[in-house]
Amino acid sequence: MKKILVANWKMNPNSRDEAEALAGAVCAYAKNKEVEILLAPPFVYLDTVSRVFLATGSQMKLCAQNVFWETQGAFTGEVSPTMLRSEGVSHVILGHSERRKWLGETDVVVNKKIKSALGRDLNVILCVGEQKETRDKGLDVAKLYIKSQLQYALEGINTADISGLHLIVAYEPIWAIGTGMADKPEDTAEMSRYIKDTLGFMGLGQNFRVLYGGSVTSENAALFFAEKDIDGALVGRAGLNAEEFGKIIEIAQKF
Ligand code: PGA
Repeated sequence: MKKILVANWKMNPNSRDEAEALAGAVCAYAKNKEVEILLAPPFVYLDTVSRVFLATGSQMKLCAQNVFWETQGAFTGEVSPTMLRSEGVSHVILGHSERRKWLGETDVVVNKKIKSALGRDLNVILCVGEQKETRDKGLDVAKLYIKSQLQYALEGINTADISGLHLIVAYEPIWAIGTGMADKPEDTAEMSRYIKDTLGFMGLGQNFRVLYGGSVTSENAALFFAEKDIDGALVGRAGLNAEEFGKIIEIAQKF
């Protein structure tokens, strides 16, 4: 199965012109590659990026970085799943640790958002990840933490809710995000198997894909992709440099 690469642009770049140029450059690198590639720009650039995809005939998919759980109404500053669908968005990242940290998103909020997104035909990329203090106690302790994040985030969701859609989990140890200290690929692979098993035990089926996120670069990508249980990567900083992201695409294609 093709590897998945998601470029999470976070709150970048600074202007629409830059967003257009970045998307255009990535399209060129992505052309005819056997990799499933998603770009996740800020809301304000979704339309711009979507137009670039159309103009270049790109197969890349459009991903949002957040969504609200209601579909319409008096919710100042929020964007609904229905709006995202109408902009051509197919996937949404939910539960990212930066939203948990800066916006106070709780597991309850993440759960509401996942239900709403799946209910409106949006594929979900659910981010989970432990703090350094937890991981320092060992991988088994980290696993229990991840299990509880999955249980809270997916509470009340069953296979029928996911049917026809993709629920992808991104394992992103918080201490590895933006720090240059990526996880050990073999530890991520073990965590990935554990996440897949946990989803199985929760009665959600067997066909889940788990991505790794946290300081992925063209230097370390191959080590992660070589692990058969790691289905791809959620890339932050390296996704803002088209040439660097292009190298990661090239590497992903080999696996
Ligand atoms: P990073 O970010 O690649 O810059 O570490 C990953 C993420 O937060 O998704």
